[in-house]
Amino acid sequence: MRELGEIHRQLLRKLADGRLHSGVNLAGQLGVSRSGIWNAVRDLQTLGLEINALPGTGYRLDRPLELLEATAIEAQLAPHTRCLLQSLHIHDVLDSTNTFLMQAAREGLASGAVCLAETQTKGRGRLGRSWQSPFAGNVYLSVLWYFANTSLLSGLSLAAGTVLIRLLRQLGAPGVGLKWPNDILWNEHKLGGILVEVSGEMHGRCAVVVGIGLNCNIPHSYMAAVDQASVDLRRIPGVAAVSRNALVAGILNELLPVLAEFERKGFGGYREEWRRYHTFDGRAVTLDLGGQQIHGLIVDVTESGALLVDCDVGGRREFVSGDVRLRVAKP
Ligand code: BTN
Repeated sequence: MRELGEIHRQLLRKLADGRLHSGVNLAGQLGVSRSGIWNAVRDLQTLGLEINALPGTGYRLDRPLELLEATAIEAQLAPHTRCLLQSLHIHDVLDSTNTFLMQAAREGLASGAVCLAETQTKGRGRLGRSWQSPFAGNVYLSVLWYFANTSLLSGLSLAAGTVLIRLLRQLGAPGVGLKWPNDILWNEHKLGGILVEVSGEMHGRCAVVVGIGLNCNIPHSYMAAVDQASVDLRRIPGVAAVSRNALVAGILNELLPVLAEFERKGFGGYREEWRRYHTFDGRAVTLDLGGQQIHGLIVDVTESGALLVDCDVGGRREFVSGDVRLRVAKP
């Protein structure tokens, strides 16, 4: 299914409170037959929504949902963010919010466009991985920005990670930190990630899409499908229930100014703060370079966002890409 129909959306709004709704009442309120309601419920179930159908009684979502609303997001934007936000595109179902903006950039969409989806059918992570995107469970957000050339982009994804941690700590998650380059971790579990994609000339104007996936409320059924230990905001002790619309506004309030200032400030403007959030600083790690594995101790991150490692073999080296894993000490 590409987008929800009007009946599906209205039905979802009714069910979003997590209470029991009788089929007769829903049919009357939405102006369709009871079998129309049943068909719409089945369509929503194919999107992964866990709607219990209680025979002769009605329908109930297994948990309340908060749908994304442009007005709720816009109401919580800082005045400066409102100036930077060019357009807000909210979709029920997309293949990937990054893919949507990359395509739209080719068609001339302006800098400062933001895309959100309730679910992604082909959500993408770093290094060719897929990104699980349960409906209305998490935040899937991408921002399009143009830069004068690609050489100005080093460390941009790290700067984005820095301000995300700043926001999450303000929300009451003090233990949230970063794994190079920009994994959002809590207690060594993945809470979110950032995928930056670039299209354009090496020495000409380029379109950059910064995509953020942040786990808020992952259904149990999805937890098994993710390929690494994951966590969501709901499961972190001390984090108050967060509205997804408020979270999106908070992310935009932090991220859009970074994009607007990055050509001038570079990663240097965020490096000190990034270091404070770096959970694997000084740790023994294995760096997977896609085939080759490097073992060593993490030393630092450079002014351009590269990882500095004291390698077991070959001394101190800088890495600009790769996947970091903690090395488990041999017993
Ligand atoms: C990672 O592997 O850690 C990066 C994950 C990035 C996921 C986000 S969700 C919104 C945007 N759209 C995508 O397809 N990917 C990014």
